[in-house]
Amino acid sequence: MVSVKVPATSANVGSGFDCIGIAVQIYNYISAEEIDEGIQIEIDDDNYHSFIPTDERNLVYRSMMLAFDKIGYKPKGLHIKQKNNIPATRGMGSSASCVVGGIMAANQICGGQLSKTEIINLATTMEGHPDNVTAAVTGGLAVAVRNNGIRYSNFPIDNRKLSFAFYIPDFSLRTKVARSVLPETVSYSDACYNIGRSAMLTSALLTGNYKLLSTALQDRMHQYYRKRLIGGSSKIFKEAERCGALGTYISGSGSTMVSIVGKDNEARFYNDMNKYVTENFEKWQFKYVPVDNRGAVIL
Ligand code: HSE
Repeated sequence: MVSVKVPATSANVGSGFDCIGIAVQIYNYISAEEIDEGIQIEIDDDNYHSFIPTDERNLVYRSMMLAFDKIGYKPKGLHIKQKNNIPATRGMGSSASCVVGGIMAANQICGGQLSKTEIINLATTMEGHPDNVTAAVTGGLAVAVRNNGIRYSNFPIDNRKLSFAFYIPDFSLRTKVARSVLPETVSYSDACYNIGRSAMLTSALLTGNYKLLSTALQDRMHQYYRKRLIGGSSKIFKEAERCGALGTYISGSGSTMVSIVGKDNEARFYNDMNKYVTENFEKWQFKYVPVDNRGAVIL
């Protein structure tokens, strides 16, 4: 049996709509082997009790079949095991992890014929956006855009200098719904607003000029429209700023939010913000999750 460990991901990171993602240390595990016939799928997912099909509709299965097709291999049957730790439908890349894990497992069964770039391209055709899948494959922060396939660049984030605080609500938000509230077009000034800030985001993280993050995380492409789908989001943004976060953003299409916090303020921020979240959103999870700088690995 081959096994793949795939990190959760936090996409967009404020201004990098549909092109930037960061991998973090929560993992889904996908194991698979070829069997003589049929489909056997076992799911261990006591985390969020999400409904996951165990037939041809299963996302890991469909991703594996896509990879087998690309390679030109026809498995007789498949046995798949999923151990899910990434919260589903929360904007933390749970579906991207299933897609990447499925493609990498199928690729490994066939002797590793697909390159990293081919894996990312295939995964993007399943996911629709390259941000989560690219970061899940590469680890660290990944920037990914389409140009005759996906072009990407990635770099590690220094966990000794920055902490990522996750606010995970007790309600889900489907990406399809979160995209349906976005306008069809944006103005020239809003486009310029985001281009500058997303460039600043990568520059600030690469140079360690973290005080620029409060500006770099600002966005006019999606967060304003989505905040009304995420009850409590405006209060979280405001309180996190008051407690000294370097910046806060909606993770992927939500419902999770993330504050980036300087290491020097890590303990105080946690104490203050944890108290606020516990008092106001008692069923939410609030925790620091370090960045994964390695990306998905075959175990
Ligand atoms: N970037 C996507 C969105 C989510 O914000 O709708 C992740 O692919």
